[in-house]
Amino acid sequence: MKFFIDTANLAQIQEAHDLGILDGVTTNPSLMAKEGIKGEAAILQHYKDICEIVGDGDVSAEVLSTDFASIIEEGKKLAAIDSNIVVKVPMIKDGVKAIKWFTDNNIRTNCTLVFSAGQAILAAKAGATYVSPFIGRIDDSSWDGVELIAQIAQIYSIQGFKTEILAASIRNALHIVKCAEAGADVCTCPLDSILGLLKHPLTDIGLAKFLEDAKKM
Ligand code: G3P
Repeated sequence: MKFFIDTANLAQIQEAHDLGILDGVTTNPSLMAKEGIKGEAAILQHYKDICEIVGDGDVSAEVLSTDFASIIEEGKKLAAIDSNIVVKVPMIKDGVKAIKWFTDNNIRTNCTLVFSAGQAILAAKAGATYVSPFIGRIDDSSWDGVELIAQIAQIYSIQGFKTEILAASIRNALHIVKCAEAGADVCTCPLDSILGLLKHPLTDIGLAKFLEDAKKM
């Protein structure tokens, strides 16, 4: 399973990259706004800066338009920033149409705001590179987000769809483990959830004991 970080914060992206396990980055308009990125020039420059840190990994950059022609125009601009840019398109009618257009024109896509298996089938039919089910938000509405990942994984396997399942809206380290178990190809996580994987009290207790005993060596 690939590890992406779900942020537009350059320091956090650098920290995850320095850990040596980072395969890519996903952003969205909320995450960009949180970093205070405003205006087209600043947005394009910020994506450029992210691509520079990540090197070879994929960087999802989301379109802000919702009609077919504007999604295409915007997506072309984003894709021109760097060969690692993946154009993130919402799961709406014009979005599906645009994903098909991008697929036919060799521009990679990430279909976002996916909350059902039906939507995931449509995204795959349109040729999306990635599909992003938002598992945390599904959990928030009292459904099981991880179950959706497993269902999509089963459908894609039976049908031979090549679209990669990118589990998004991750809230904790357990989500990452459960998504790996359910067959996600990628998990995009906040830095805290990635670092949460490190933690186990027995590791801390064991290390303290080893360091104490090492003094006797
Ligand atoms: O990038 C999309 C997704 O990961 C958003 O997560 O926490 O806002 O539901 P969240």
